[in-house]
Formats: sequence, C-alpha cells, structure tokens
Amino acid sequence: MTSTTPQNLPFGSILTDVMAIASYKDGRWGEHSLRAVGPIEIHPAAHALHYGSECFEGFKAYRWADGSVHVFRMDRHIERLRQSARSLVLPEPDAAQVAEMVRAVVERCRDAVPEAPGALYLRPLLFGTMPNIGAASTPSNEVCLVVLASPVWDYFAGGAKPLRIYVEEEATRCASHLGVVKTGGNYAAALGPTLVARRLHQVDQVLFCPGGEVQETGAANFLLIRPGHIVTRSLDSTFLHGVTRDSLLRMAADQGYRVEERVFTIDEMLAWARDGEAALSGTAAVLAGVGTLVRKGGVEVKVGAGGVGPETQKLRAALVAIQQGRAADRYGWLTPV
Ligand SMILES: Cc1ncc(COP(=O)(O)O)c(C=O)c1O
Repeated sequence: MTSTTPQNLPFGSILTDVMAIASYKDGRWGEHSLRAVGPIEIHPAAHALHYGSECFEGFKAYRWADGSVHVFRMDRHIERLRQSARSLVLPEPDAAQVAEMVRAVVERCRDAVPEAPGALYLRPLLFGTMPNIGAASTPSNEVCLVVLASPVWDYFAGGAKPLRIYVEEEATRCASHLGVVKTGGNYAAALGPTLVARRLHQVDQVLFCPGGEVQETGAANFLLIRPGHIVTRSLDSTFLHGVTRDSLLRMAADQGYRVEERVFTIDEMLAWARDGEAALSGTAAVLAGVGTLVRKGGVEVKVGAGGVGPETQKLRAALVAIQQGRAADRYGWLTPV
C-alpha cells in the first residue's frame, strides 16, 4: 500500500459521485433527485448559515463476503436525525423518505462500497434554507436534505493503535441541552479546545469532563471496560446517544457483562485505569482502545498496560463480525440494500 491508495486517505475525504437531494417548501417535502456530487446553490441569507439550523447523521453500509451490501442500524440513525430536527425546530423528513434516499445513493454507488474492513459511510444532512437574516428566533420554513456517501477505511490513522486522550476538566463540548443533538455547532464548539490539546499534548481526542464528570469525546462515546463489567455515562441531554454505544451495551449484556450506566467522575476513571481498560465507541471509531490519559499540565496516566486491552479487542471483534456478516445478526440490526 502506498501513501496514495484510498486506504490511506483521511476518513471522509473522498465522496462517491452521486448524492440524493430533497427540499421542503410551502409546508411539504418534494421528491428527492439524484445528482452528481458538487456545489449546490444556497442563498447567503439562508437560516443555517446565520443561525446554525443544521443537523446530520453518520452510519455505514458494509459489503459482505458474498458481495451483498447491508446498512447498520439505519432506522435508529434516521430516528436520531428526526429527533435532532425536532430539537432545532426544523421540519422533520419522513423516516421512509430518508431511507429511500439512502437506498437510492447506495444503489447508484454500489461499486464504491469497499470490501471489509472498509465500509461506505453515509451522511444525511438537513439544513434551514429560508433566506431571512432577521430570523434568529423564527424557525426556517424552508429546508434542504442531502445524502452524501464516502468510502472509508480507518478513522484513527494507525488503526488499532491505542489512543492518547486529553482529560478536559472545565470546558464543555457544547451547550448542556444540545449534546444529544447531532448539530454542526457542537463540533465547531469542540474544535478550539481540541486543537489546543492536540498542539500542547499531541493527543488524538479530548474527553470532556465538565465539573469532574466524564461525558464523551468530540466524536465518540466513552466506556470503561473490564472482564465482565462495563461502566459508561447514563443517557442525558449533555452528550450524543451513540448507536454504537447502544449496540455494544446490548451485546455485552447478552454475553453476561454487568453493564452500569451511571454518572462517574475523573477520579473513578483514573482508579479504573490502574488495571482496567477504556475505549471510545462510535460509527467511525467502532471501539477504539485508549492507551493514555493526559491531564492538565501534561501529567500522563497509562490505562492498564497502555495498549489496546483484550476486552476492548474482543467486544470490537464481536460487533464488527455482525456488521460484516461473519456472525449472525440476531438483533436485526442490518438492512440489506
Ligand atoms: C459527539 C459524538 N458522540 C458519540 C458519537 C457516536 O455515535 P454513533 O455510535 O451513533 O456513531 C458520535 C458520532 O459518531 C459523535 O459525534
């Protein structure tokens, strides 16, 4: 493999040729159309550009060994998009319409779905297009829905390399009622602290722990793992309710793990790190082991032996086997497309 092969390109940096697009106007959604991926016209007064009325989703289609293509937990992701839309007072698209657009894009881009361990990352995007710069406290009554697709290989360069994570004790990732919403502004808000931590401490991600309570990182949920035992933050509005998190917890509970969803502190995490494991979960990261926690002032704390722990590897392998069609999908999580 050379540095120019797609496998080495950063996650999400290449798109397929085709996207689906639909718009909402005069109180109704129009039919979607398929178009070549490229610039779209948007009014400079569009609501999303000024007032951040935008949300999106991210999930994957997997090519199985027999060539068939399956989307992982599509219904759940579409439901989360609709919930994000409701929170931002954007008109909700029908679940059936989003699913149809996803299917249409995958159908047209079938040849671009990579073989395992790659996947086709799907990115529905919904944004307010109403042209009115005085509409700060008025919802957008015009909306655009786009579905993009991107062949992906490895989110964290280096793959199975243990991650370095900065433990942010003060800053919040986003407003406390919006963590549960997958909206662009949350990522913009986390970018500054993330870049500072990267520059100062050469970390991969920031773990937000405002007030000393562990929440999540900029793009993934956070789990403490030991043999037969998982601890992760209980669901509330401050962080994104990851579909990967939900999937791993269900699988783990069925395998006999004690799954504890509750608030826990930095101190508890540090005590756990002495001989336990920690990992990030998400569509992009799948389950990525944390090797080092970096605290304010650059103090480093190894998690376990500092590598990707065996429990993390086992759980990740079990989930990936289902996604790639190598283990039975007893939960009905995959939709053939
Ligand atoms: C902030 C944040 N938390 C958690 C996740 C994990 O969510 P999921 O497992 O649904 O991909 C993501 C996205 O992938 C995210 O952006």
